[in-house]
Amino acid sequence: MPLIRECVVVTRAADGSAHIAPMGARSVALVDGSQGVLLQPFRPSSSLDNLLGARCATLNHVDDVRIIAGCLTGRRNWPVVPAERVRCERLAAALAHQELEVEHVEHDELRPRIRLRVRHSANHLPFAGFNRAKAAVIEAAILVSRLHMLTAEKVDREIDYLRTAIDKTAGPEELEAWGWLLEAIDAYRRGVPGRRA
Ligand SMILES: Cc1cc2nc3c(=O)[nH]c(=O)nc-3n(C[C@H](O)[C@H](O)[C@H](O)COP(=O)(O)O)c2cc1C
Repeated sequence: MPLIRECVVVTRAADGSAHIAPMGARSVALVDGSQGVLLQPFRPSSSLDNLLGARCATLNHVDDVRIIAGCLTGRRNWPVVPAERVRCERLAAALAHQELEVEHVEHDELRPRIRLRVRHSANHLPFAGFNRAKAAVIEAAILVSRLHMLTAEKVDREIDYLRTAIDKTAGPEELEAWGWLLEAIDAYRRGVPGRRA
């Protein structure tokens, strides 16, 4: 199985604004043998439209999981700063980021495969260590992104399991992110339109 890292992708919309979305990223060999990045957005996707339009992105490695939970619950307005080598922005909170240019697009009705070349990488802040609550928030955010595909029983079962890590190891950021996700699950079940991404 390929190693997938859960990152935050920032792309540039046609109006020049930054679009922020969590996405899994894989390492991939490019035609010249160098190491690139593979993104696989499901259609329809604003990130995909922006990648095909502006042909660049930044891949952001974060430990503030509110950014990931926030994007899934309508809170996408996270501070960004300009990238150095591509015409795009990166998250101000990134521990590290890579600046990417689209190299090759394998079109697909469901899930195109976008290969990107790394133009620049930078580290900004140290990685402070693993935390179970952060991992639980990421898992719960994935559940929220798939509510339309999952039964309520499966979602409840998984949330119950993840709650242990939250109860035992969360700090204030993780608790806030967890609360947003539970709120989104509740709103979805009540049919309330609102803060979903
Ligand atoms: C940790 C995590 C990883 C995700 N990975 C992907 C992915 O690889 N492809 C994808 O299409 N959506 C992925 N999603 C869901 C998107 O972030 C979400 O649907 C988002 O709104 C993308 O749509 P957009 O490009 O229109 O913003 C992921 C969500 C989470 C929480």
